[in-house]
Amino acid sequence: IERTLILVKPDGVRRGLSGEVLRRVEAKGYTLVAVDLRDASPEVLAAHYAEHEGKPFYQPLVDFMLSGKILAVVAEGQGVIPGFRSLAGATDPTAAAPGTIRGDLGRDWGLKVQQNLVHGSDSPESAAREIGLWFPSL
Ligand code: GTP
Ligand code: MG
Repeated sequence: IERTLILVKPDGVRRGLSGEVLRRVEAKGYTLVAVDLRDASPEVLAAHYAEHEGKPFYQPLVDFMLSGKILAVVAEGQGVIPGFRSLAGATDPTAAAPGTIRGDLGRDWGLKVQQNLVHGSDSPESAAREIGLWFPSL
């Protein structure tokens, strides 16, 4: 059965939206497999965001992800990888549709799309890689 990695980023945890994100995942019918509030390590973040290395927003993004606790989540269910991407909405919270996590709860705080509350794996390959990275015991 399909699994995805979800992160509530430091802006979401700081604003007290961890429970709201979990609520939406569960209300959609997906099952929580693992939930862990933690500080990310620079090593895990470098591997997690390897595809963005060299881009202008890379270092600010990593610094932001190190700025506070992250809620790391594995969720399970048929279609959960694209399904959570739909729940999350567009990367830019200003553009994200109402009804989505980013569209309902996110906005531009002056740091463009960096603070967009959540991450969700974008393919089965990414999900396998990211779950291995954040939850090596799963
Ligand atoms: P994730 O689910 O977090 O991976 O978001 P995504 O797949 O919608 O976006 P993508 O993988 O392209 O980028 C990863 C993260 O980098 C985004 O969620 C943003 O936090 C950040 N990011 C992406 N593009 C930009 C950008 O142009 N400027 C800034 N400041 N941040 C960006
Ligand atoms: Mg992505």
